[in-house]
Amino acid sequence: MKLLVLGGTRFLGPAIVDEAVARGHEVTLFNRGKTNPDLFPDLETLLGDRNVDLSALEGRTWDAVVDTCGYLPWQLERSARLLSSAVAQYVFISTVSVYADESHPGLDEESRVARLSDEEYERIDAMTLADVTGVTYGPLKALCERAVERLMPGRATAVRPGLICGPRDPTHRFGYWPWRLDRGGEVLAPRPMDGPQQFVDVRDLGGWIVRLVEEGHVGPYNAVGPGAPIPMEELLYGVKSVSVTPGSLTWVDEEFLVARDLGMWSIPLWVPAGDRRARGFNAVSNARAVAHGLTFRPLAETARGVLDDFDRRGDRATWEFGEEMLVKEAELLRQWRERAGG
Ligand SMILES: NC(=O)c1ccc[n+]([C@@H]2O[C@H](COP(=O)([O-])OP(=O)(O)OC[C@H]3O[C@@H](n4cnc5c(N)ncnc54)[C@H](OP(=O)(O)O)[C@@H]3O)[C@@H](O)[C@H]2O)c1
Repeated sequence: MKLLVLGGTRFLGPAIVDEAVARGHEVTLFNRGKTNPDLFPDLETLLGDRNVDLSALEGRTWDAVVDTCGYLPWQLERSARLLSSAVAQYVFISTVSVYADESHPGLDEESRVARLSDEEYERIDAMTLADVTGVTYGPLKALCERAVERLMPGRATAVRPGLICGPRDPTHRFGYWPWRLDRGGEVLAPRPMDGPQQFVDVRDLGGWIVRLVEEGHVGPYNAVGPGAPIPMEELLYGVKSVSVTPGSLTWVDEEFLVARDLGMWSIPLWVPAGDRRARGFNAVSNARAVAHGLTFRPLAETARGVLDDFDRRGDRATWEFGEEMLVKEAELLRQWRERAGG
Protein backbone atom coordinates (compact mmCIF):
# COMPACT_ATOMS: atom_id res chain seq x y z
CA MET A 1 0.00 0.00 0.00
CA LYS A 2 1.18 3.53 -0.75
CA LEU A 3 0.49 5.87 2.16
CA LEU A 4 0.83 9.65 2.35
CA VAL A 5 1.18 11.18 5.83
CA LEU A 6 0.60 14.91 6.25
CA GLY A 7 2.82 15.68 9.23
CA GLY A 8 4.34 12.51 10.62
CA THR A 9 7.35 13.63 12.62
CA ARG A 10 6.27 14.70 16.10
CA PHE A 11 4.19 12.35 18.27
CA LEU A 12 1.30 10.43 16.71
CA GLY A 13 2.83 10.71 13.25
CA PRO A 14 5.93 8.60 14.04
CA ALA A 15 3.77 5.87 15.61
CA ILE A 16 1.73 5.65 12.40
CA VAL A 17 4.81 5.74 10.19
CA ASP A 18 6.71 3.13 12.24
CA GLU A 19 3.78 0.71 12.02
CA ALA A 20 3.16 1.34 8.33
CA VAL A 21 6.82 0.72 7.48
CA ALA A 22 6.91 -2.39 9.71
CA ARG A 23 3.91 -3.74 7.81
CA GLY A 24 5.66 -3.25 4.50
CA HIS A 25 3.85 -0.16 3.23
CA GLU A 26 5.48 2.57 1.17
CA VAL A 27 5.25 5.84 3.10
CA THR A 28 5.62 9.40 1.81
CA LEU A 29 5.73 12.30 4.28
CA PHE A 30 4.59 15.86 3.63
CA ASN A 31 5.70 18.56 6.06
CA ARG A 32 7.77 21.74 6.32
CA GLY A 33 10.94 19.94 7.41
CA LYS A 34 11.00 21.79 10.75
CA THR A 35 9.99 19.15 13.30
CA ASN A 36 12.51 16.31 13.75
CA PRO A 37 13.61 16.56 10.11
CA ASP A 38 16.10 13.66 10.48
CA LEU A 39 13.64 11.16 11.93
CA PHE A 40 12.97 9.16 8.77
CA PRO A 41 16.01 9.51 6.49
CA ASP A 42 14.97 6.50 4.39
CA LEU A 43 11.49 7.79 3.57
CA GLU A 44 10.49 10.16 0.81
CA THR A 45 9.63 13.58 2.25
CA LEU A 46 7.80 16.16 0.17
CA LEU A 47 8.43 19.61 1.57
CA GLY A 48 5.73 22.22 1.83
CA ASP A 49 3.68 24.36 4.19
CA ARG A 50 0.06 23.18 3.94
CA ASN A 51 -1.14 26.68 4.74
CA VAL A 52 0.66 28.17 1.77
CA ASP A 53 1.56 25.68 -0.94
CA LEU A 54 0.49 22.09 -1.52
CA SER A 55 2.04 21.86 -4.99
CA ALA A 56 4.55 19.18 -3.90
CA LEU A 57 1.54 16.81 -3.76
CA GLU A 58 0.38 17.48 -7.31
CA GLY A 59 0.57 14.78 -9.96
CA ARG A 60 1.02 11.92 -7.47
CA THR A 61 -1.27 9.14 -6.27
CA TRP A 62 -1.48 7.11 -3.05
CA ASP A 63 -3.90 4.55 -1.66
CA ALA A 64 -4.65 6.76 1.34
CA VAL A 65 -3.64 9.89 3.18
CA VAL A 66 -3.44 10.22 6.97
CA ASP A 67 -3.64 13.86 8.02
CA THR A 68 -2.28 14.47 11.53
CA CYS A 69 -1.88 18.25 11.39
CA GLY A 70 -5.18 19.87 10.38
CA TYR A 71 -6.94 22.27 12.74
CA LEU A 72 -8.81 24.75 10.50
CA PRO A 73 -11.60 23.88 8.03
CA TRP A 74 -9.97 25.79 5.16
CA GLN A 75 -6.81 23.68 5.58
CA LEU A 76 -8.88 20.53 5.06
CA GLU A 77 -10.85 22.03 2.18
CA ARG A 78 -7.60 22.71 0.33
CA SER A 79 -5.93 19.38 1.03
CA ALA A 80 -9.04 17.23 0.50
CA ARG A 81 -9.91 19.02 -2.74
CA LEU A 82 -6.40 18.47 -4.10
CA LEU A 83 -6.17 14.88 -2.89
CA SER A 84 -9.70 13.70 -3.71
CA SER A 85 -8.53 12.39 -7.09
CA ALA A 86 -5.12 11.26 -5.78
CA VAL A 87 -6.12 8.99 -2.87
CA ALA A 88 -8.90 6.48 -2.25
CA GLN A 89 -9.29 7.31 1.47
CA TYR A 90 -8.71 10.41 3.62
CA VAL A 91 -8.04 9.71 7.32
CA PHE A 92 -8.28 12.87 9.41
CA ILE A 93 -6.98 12.92 12.98
CA SER A 94 -9.67 14.70 14.94
CA THR A 95 -10.42 14.59 18.70
CA VAL A 96 -13.07 13.62 21.27
CA SER A 97 -13.23 17.35 22.02
CA VAL A 98 -15.64 17.62 19.06
CA TYR A 99 -18.57 16.76 21.35
CA ALA A 100 -20.92 19.50 22.49
CA ASP A 101 -21.77 18.23 25.96
CA GLU A 102 -19.15 16.40 28.02
CA SER A 103 -21.37 16.18 31.07
CA HIS A 104 -22.92 12.82 30.07
CA PRO A 105 -21.10 9.48 30.13
CA GLY A 106 -21.17 7.26 27.07
CA LEU A 107 -20.76 9.84 24.29
CA ASP A 108 -20.67 7.93 21.03
CA GLU A 109 -20.00 8.85 17.41
CA GLU A 110 -23.63 9.93 16.92
CA SER A 111 -23.52 12.42 19.82
CA ARG A 112 -24.00 16.07 18.96
CA VAL A 113 -20.84 17.97 18.03
CA ALA A 114 -19.97 21.42 19.31
CA ARG A 115 -20.47 24.55 17.22
CA LEU A 116 -18.61 27.81 16.98
CA SER A 117 -20.41 30.98 18.03
CA ASP A 118 -22.08 32.88 15.15
CA GLU A 119 -19.43 35.55 15.47
CA GLU A 120 -16.59 33.04 15.15
CA TYR A 121 -18.31 31.22 12.30
CA GLU A 122 -18.58 34.41 10.27
CA ARG A 123 -14.82 34.79 10.10
CA ILE A 124 -13.98 31.13 9.75
CA ASP A 125 -12.10 31.47 6.47
CA ALA A 126 -9.87 34.16 7.96
CA MET A 127 -8.96 32.10 11.02
CA THR A 128 -5.36 31.14 11.71
CA LEU A 129 -3.80 28.72 14.19
CA ALA A 130 -3.82 31.56 16.72
CA ASP A 131 -7.63 31.23 16.74
CA VAL A 132 -7.41 27.60 17.88
CA THR A 133 -8.07 27.79 21.63
CA GLY A 134 -9.38 25.45 24.29
CA VAL A 135 -12.87 26.61 23.31
CA THR A 136 -12.64 26.59 19.49
CA TYR A 137 -10.41 23.51 19.07
CA GLY A 138 -13.26 20.96 19.20
CA PRO A 139 -15.80 22.83 17.03
CA LEU A 140 -13.09 23.56 14.45
CA LYS A 141 -12.05 19.91 14.32
CA ALA A 142 -15.73 18.98 13.81
CA LEU A 143 -15.89 21.38 10.86
CA CYS A 144 -12.63 19.92 9.49
CA GLU A 145 -14.22 16.46 9.57
CA ARG A 146 -17.27 17.82 7.76
CA ALA A 147 -15.12 19.43 5.06
CA VAL A 148 -13.39 16.12 4.28
CA GLU A 149 -16.67 14.21 4.22
CA ARG A 150 -18.19 16.81 1.89
CA LEU A 151 -15.28 16.66 -0.56
CA MET A 152 -14.74 12.89 -0.37
CA PRO A 153 -18.14 11.42 0.56
CA GLY A 154 -17.97 7.82 1.75
CA ARG A 155 -14.16 7.89 1.63
CA ALA A 156 -13.44 9.88 4.81
CA THR A 157 -12.36 8.50 8.19
CA ALA A 158 -12.33 10.68 11.30
CA VAL A 159 -10.24 9.32 14.19
CA ARG A 160 -11.26 11.02 17.45
CA PRO A 161 -8.64 10.29 20.13
CA GLY A 162 -8.92 11.27 23.77
CA LEU A 163 -5.70 11.81 25.68
CA ILE A 164 -2.82 10.24 23.74
CA CYS A 165 0.17 9.10 25.80
CA GLY A 166 3.44 7.23 25.41
CA PRO A 167 6.78 7.82 23.72
CA ARG A 168 7.43 11.28 22.18
CA ASP A 169 4.49 12.91 23.99
CA PRO A 170 5.29 16.65 23.77
CA THR A 171 2.72 17.58 26.46
CA HIS A 172 2.90 17.71 30.25
CA ARG A 173 0.06 15.35 31.00
CA PHE A 174 0.12 11.55 31.33
CA GLY A 175 3.95 11.52 31.34
CA TYR A 176 4.03 13.35 34.65
CA TRP A 177 2.86 10.30 36.57
CA PRO A 178 5.51 7.77 35.46
CA TRP A 179 8.11 10.49 36.00
CA ARG A 180 6.82 11.47 39.44
CA LEU A 181 6.16 7.98 40.76
CA ASP A 182 9.57 6.81 39.62
CA ARG A 183 11.23 9.60 41.63
CA GLY A 184 9.66 8.12 44.75
CA GLY A 185 9.11 9.73 48.16
CA GLU A 186 5.76 11.13 49.25
CA VAL A 187 3.59 11.71 46.19
CA LEU A 188 0.49 13.89 46.23
CA ALA A 189 -2.41 11.98 44.68
CA PRO A 190 -5.62 13.94 44.03
CA ARG A 191 -9.00 12.51 45.07
CA PRO A 192 -11.45 11.22 43.99
CA MET A 193 -9.64 7.89 43.98
CA ASP A 194 -12.34 6.44 41.75
CA GLY A 195 -12.32 9.33 39.24
CA PRO A 196 -12.44 7.67 35.79
CA GLN A 197 -9.50 8.02 33.41
CA GLN A 198 -9.25 7.36 29.68
CA PHE A 199 -6.16 7.50 27.49
CA VAL A 200 -4.67 5.69 24.53
CA ASP A 201 -1.07 4.63 24.03
CA VAL A 202 0.25 6.29 20.89
CA ARG A 203 1.63 2.97 19.65
CA ASP A 204 -1.77 1.27 19.95
CA LEU A 205 -3.40 4.21 18.22
CA GLY A 206 -0.81 4.47 15.43
CA GLY A 207 -0.95 0.73 14.73
CA TRP A 208 -4.73 0.72 14.64
CA ILE A 209 -4.88 3.68 12.25
CA VAL A 210 -2.72 1.73 9.79
CA ARG A 211 -5.09 -1.24 10.04
CA LEU A 212 -8.12 1.05 9.53
CA VAL A 213 -6.52 2.11 6.27
CA GLU A 214 -5.62 -1.44 5.23
CA GLU A 215 -9.24 -2.47 5.80
CA GLY A 216 -10.69 0.72 4.29
CA HIS A 217 -12.93 1.62 7.26
CA VAL A 218 -14.61 5.00 7.00
CA GLY A 219 -16.69 7.23 9.28
CA PRO A 220 -15.96 8.57 12.77
CA TYR A 221 -14.31 6.54 15.56
CA ASN A 222 -13.76 7.51 19.20
CA ALA A 223 -10.22 6.30 19.89
CA VAL A 224 -10.00 6.07 23.67
CA GLY A 225 -8.74 3.40 26.01
CA PRO A 226 -8.16 1.37 28.00
CA GLY A 227 -11.00 -1.16 27.60
CA ALA A 228 -13.18 0.62 30.16
CA PRO A 229 -12.35 3.84 32.03
CA ILE A 230 -10.02 3.06 34.93
CA PRO A 231 -10.12 4.75 38.36
CA MET A 232 -7.35 7.23 39.15
CA GLU A 233 -6.18 4.94 41.95
CA GLU A 234 -5.71 2.01 39.59
CA LEU A 235 -3.92 4.23 37.12
CA LEU A 236 -1.41 5.45 39.70
CA TYR A 237 -0.72 1.98 41.15
CA GLY A 238 -0.45 0.55 37.63
CA VAL A 239 2.08 3.19 36.65
CA LYS A 240 3.97 2.73 39.92
CA SER A 241 4.31 -0.99 39.21
CA VAL A 242 7.19 -0.40 36.78
CA SER A 243 9.29 1.46 39.34
CA VAL A 244 11.33 0.10 42.26
CA THR A 245 11.95 3.48 43.92
CA PRO A 246 10.44 3.51 47.43
CA GLY A 247 7.49 5.86 47.64
CA SER A 248 3.99 6.38 48.97
CA LEU A 249 0.81 8.11 47.87
CA THR A 250 -0.89 10.75 50.01
CA TRP A 251 -4.49 11.12 48.82
CA VAL A 252 -5.54 14.74 49.17
CA ASP A 253 -9.21 15.75 49.27
CA GLU A 254 -10.81 17.38 46.28
CA GLU A 255 -12.30 20.18 48.46
CA PHE A 256 -8.84 21.04 49.78
CA LEU A 257 -7.48 21.38 46.24
CA VAL A 258 -10.50 23.28 44.90
CA ALA A 259 -10.27 25.70 47.86
CA ARG A 260 -6.77 26.54 46.62
CA ASP A 261 -8.08 27.54 43.20
CA LEU A 262 -6.93 24.36 41.56
CA GLY A 263 -9.12 23.02 38.76
CA MET A 264 -9.30 20.33 36.12
CA TRP A 265 -5.82 19.15 35.00
CA SER A 266 -3.95 21.71 37.14
CA ILE A 267 -2.52 18.50 38.56
CA PRO A 268 -1.95 16.28 35.53
CA LEU A 269 -5.04 14.19 34.64
CA TRP A 270 -6.95 15.36 37.71
CA VAL A 271 -10.68 15.93 37.11
CA PRO A 272 -12.56 17.10 40.24
CA ALA A 273 -15.83 15.19 40.62
CA GLY A 274 -17.53 18.56 41.17
CA ASP A 275 -16.62 19.75 37.65
CA ARG A 276 -19.73 19.34 35.47
CA ARG A 277 -17.60 17.80 32.70
CA ALA A 278 -16.40 15.07 35.06
CA ARG A 279 -19.25 12.67 34.30
CA GLY A 280 -18.64 12.46 30.57
CA PHE A 281 -15.12 13.67 30.00
CA ASN A 282 -13.41 10.37 30.71
CA ALA A 283 -16.33 8.10 29.94
CA VAL A 284 -16.54 8.24 26.16
CA SER A 285 -17.71 5.10 24.35
CA ASN A 286 -15.00 3.29 22.40
CA ALA A 287 -17.30 0.44 21.32
CA ARG A 288 -17.13 1.25 17.62
CA ALA A 289 -13.32 1.50 17.56
CA VAL A 290 -12.96 -1.72 19.56
CA ALA A 291 -15.34 -3.48 17.17
CA HIS A 292 -13.04 -2.30 14.38
CA GLY A 293 -9.88 -3.65 15.97
CA LEU A 294 -8.55 -1.06 18.46
CA THR A 295 -6.65 -2.88 21.22
CA PHE A 296 -4.82 -1.69 24.33
CA ARG A 297 -1.47 -2.75 25.74
CA PRO A 298 -1.07 -3.11 29.53
CA LEU A 299 -0.75 0.17 31.43
CA ALA A 300 2.67 -0.88 32.75
CA GLU A 301 4.00 -1.06 29.18
CA THR A 302 2.86 2.50 28.55
CA ALA A 303 4.48 3.68 31.79
CA ARG A 304 7.73 1.88 30.89
CA GLY A 305 7.61 3.42 27.39
CA VAL A 306 7.27 6.90 28.88
CA LEU A 307 10.26 6.41 31.22
CA ASP A 308 12.38 4.99 28.40
CA ASP A 309 11.44 8.01 26.32
CA PHE A 310 12.62 10.40 29.07
CA ASP A 311 15.93 8.50 29.04
CA ARG A 312 16.16 8.62 25.25
CA ARG A 313 15.66 12.41 25.35
CA GLY A 314 18.04 12.69 28.29
CA ASP A 315 15.85 15.07 30.29
CA ARG A 316 14.50 12.91 33.09
CA ALA A 317 16.66 14.75 35.64
CA THR A 318 16.07 18.21 34.22
CA TRP A 319 12.40 18.22 33.20
CA GLU A 320 11.35 21.77 33.88
CA PHE A 321 7.61 21.04 34.14
CA GLY A 322 8.29 18.22 36.60
CA GLU A 323 10.52 20.44 38.71
CA GLU A 324 7.80 23.09 38.89
CA MET A 325 5.25 20.45 39.87
CA LEU A 326 7.53 19.23 42.67
CA VAL A 327 7.60 22.72 44.19
CA LYS A 328 3.80 23.01 43.93
CA GLU A 329 3.38 19.49 45.36
CA ALA A 330 5.69 20.15 48.34
CA GLU A 331 3.74 23.27 49.28
CA LEU A 332 0.36 21.52 48.95
CA LEU A 333 1.56 18.57 51.04
CA ARG A 334 2.85 20.97 53.69
CA GLN A 335 -0.52 22.72 53.87
CA TRP A 336 -2.35 19.38 53.83
CA ARG A 337 -0.33 18.11 56.82
CA GLU A 338 -0.81 21.41 58.66
CA ARG A 339 -4.57 21.25 58.06
CA ALA A 340 -4.72 17.65 59.20
CA GLY A 341 -2.62 18.59 62.23
CA GLY A 342 0.09 16.13 61.20
N1 LIG B 1 -1.98 14.76 22.02
C1 LIG B 1 -3.21 14.38 22.32
O1 LIG B 1 -3.50 13.95 23.43
C2 LIG B 1 -4.29 14.49 21.26
C3 LIG B 1 -5.59 14.16 21.61
C4 LIG B 1 -6.57 14.19 20.63
C5 LIG B 1 -6.26 14.55 19.33
N2 LIG B 1 -4.98 14.87 19.01
C6 LIG B 1 -4.68 15.23 17.60
O2 LIG B 1 -3.68 14.36 17.17
C7 LIG B 1 -2.86 15.00 16.18
C8 LIG B 1 -1.51 14.69 16.66
O3 LIG B 1 -0.50 15.61 16.37
P1 LIG B 1 1.04 15.18 16.41
O4 LIG B 1 1.81 16.38 16.80
O5 LIG B 1 1.23 13.97 17.19
O6 LIG B 1 1.23 14.87 14.85
P2 LIG B 1 2.58 14.60 14.11
O7 LIG B 1 2.23 14.22 12.74
O8 LIG B 1 3.41 13.68 14.90
O9 LIG B 1 3.29 16.05 14.13
C9 LIG B 1 2.81 17.20 13.53
C10 LIG B 1 3.37 17.25 12.11
O10 LIG B 1 2.77 18.24 11.32
C11 LIG B 1 3.76 18.90 10.55
N3 LIG B 1 3.25 20.24 10.27
C12 LIG B 1 2.89 21.17 11.18
N4 LIG B 1 2.45 22.29 10.55
C13 LIG B 1 2.55 22.03 9.22
C14 LIG B 1 2.25 22.81 8.06
N5 LIG B 1 1.79 24.06 8.14
N6 LIG B 1 2.45 22.24 6.84
C15 LIG B 1 2.93 20.99 6.75
N7 LIG B 1 3.23 20.21 7.80
C16 LIG B 1 3.04 20.73 9.03
C17 LIG B 1 4.98 18.87 11.45
O11 LIG B 1 6.20 18.96 10.72
P3 LIG B 1 6.90 20.36 10.39
O12 LIG B 1 6.88 21.15 11.65
O13 LIG B 1 8.26 19.95 9.94
O14 LIG B 1 6.07 20.97 9.30
C18 LIG B 1 4.87 17.48 12.06
O15 LIG B 1 5.42 16.50 11.20
C19 LIG B 1 -3.33 16.44 16.13
O16 LIG B 1 -4.17 16.59 15.01
C20 LIG B 1 -4.16 16.63 17.41
O17 LIG B 1 -5.21 17.54 17.26
C21 LIG B 1 -3.99 14.85 19.94
